Amino acid sequence: MLTTVAQIGKHVGEEVRLGAWLFNKRSSGKIQFLQLRDGTGFIQGVVVKQEVTPEMWDAAKSLTQESSLYVTGIVREDERAKSGYELTVTGVDPIQIAEEYPITKKEHGVEFLMDHRHLWIRSMRQQAVLSIRSAVIQAVYEFFKERGFYKVDPPILTPTSAEGTTTLFHTQYFDEEAYLSQSGQLYMEAAAMALGRVFSFGPTFRAEKSKTRRHLIEFWMIEPEMAFVDHEESLRIQEDFVSYVVQYVLKNCPLELKRLERDTSKLENVKAPFPRITYTEAIEMLQKDGHEIQWGEDFGAPHETAIAEKFDKPVFITHYPTGIKAFYMKPDPTNPDVVLCADLIAPEGYGEIIGGSQRIDDLELMKKRYEEHDLNPQAYQWYLDLRKYGSVPHSGFGLGLERTVGWICGTEHVRETIPFPRLLNRLYP
Ligand code: 4AD
Ligand code: MG
Repeated sequence: MLTTVAQIGKHVGEEVRLGAWLFNKRSSGKIQFLQLRDGTGFIQGVVVKQEVTPEMWDAAKSLTQESSLYVTGIVREDERAKSGYELTVTGVDPIQIAEEYPITKKEHGVEFLMDHRHLWIRSMRQQAVLSIRSAVIQAVYEFFKERGFYKVDPPILTPTSAEGTTTLFHTQYFDEEAYLSQSGQLYMEAAAMALGRVFSFGPTFRAEKSKTRRHLIEFWMIEPEMAFVDHEESLRIQEDFVSYVVQYVLKNCPLELKRLERDTSKLENVKAPFPRITYTEAIEMLQKDGHEIQWGEDFGAPHETAIAEKFDKPVFITHYPTGIKAFYMKPDPTNPDVVLCADLIAPEGYGEIIGGSQRIDDLELMKKRYEEHDLNPQAYQWYLDLRKYGSVPHSGFGLGLERTVGWICGTEHVRETIPFPRLLNRLYP
């Protein structure tokens, strides 16, 4: 039976067998050091010439970078090893001897690596990022399960837009025009009226001509929607949620964070409550620091970074001007120029990771918004129904998975946080 690198600590002193790939090899003439990986982790196998048959020695010698093999060996504890263990190899069975591997130890340009993304994901660094992505996904499900939320799946093919018409992906739906979902929110509002507290977790699409380190064309979003929850309570759930996810990764992925050389002290600090400032306070803060921005304008990435630098935790910016936010956001009853919304800005320059708000629950106001935003009343008829039949205060938000993973991992660009990124100029592989 095969074991895995992740489980190897349970077999110290025993002989185990692994299915593995060779990612690197060093040889001193009498000893070969096989750097092995099996997807669950990385371990060094040591082959000593004097202790193995000539056939086995040659089999080990024949292994090229990324050759696949079954390897048997005795597990030793080794403090110097990153994984804490080493394998004294007793058997090498090559499965396939790999052709010359395109990704070598020398520096490669980003475009080259992106062209070889299907192979690049095998590297130590990419394995760490993708395994943290997986842990974040687990944490999301556990958080909402513990709190009694239902998982609901909104459609991906939609007849209308949810977040403005400028970033829609058009597609043909038989003889109608359809769009790929930008956000499941409107459907999640319907689901909240049926099930109370719900969340979705799926792919979303934005045909955004942005070429920044934070933008993907296809990204995954977690969208909770909650009946009888106002803006204030939604913020508390958001800060609990983000704290939970970060603490979960710290607990479950120490080796991966170390491999990424992430400064974990910054993450340990991510515990609710988070600081809050209003949009108006943020504008004043920026103006005082010499930024040229006026009340009513939206923040760019440099503004978000400047604000985030003032705090050592994620920070909520609340109460944005009504004019720069989505049609469905509820105006603040004490000042209708602003809406009951918040963006959560991650520390260390990672930008907005959550956008959320309380939703308009009043039928007449929603009808007015349809007119102001020139929304086709027929296409959005069903969404008005939610305000006709038992309307209740409700709030929700969307957390971007890739930006969150990028921040937790400390990656330079979101392209590393999704297995096969879709970018402005990239659909391959
Ligand atoms: O702020 P956004 O556009 O909000 C919504 O879509 C709401 N309907 C969510 C809701 O209330 N249910 O997007 C939410 C989050 C952003 O904060 C960001 O983390 C991520 O989605 N996001 C992107 N991530 C990567 N690439 C892009 N192009 C993104 N656009 C948004
Ligand atoms: Mg937003």
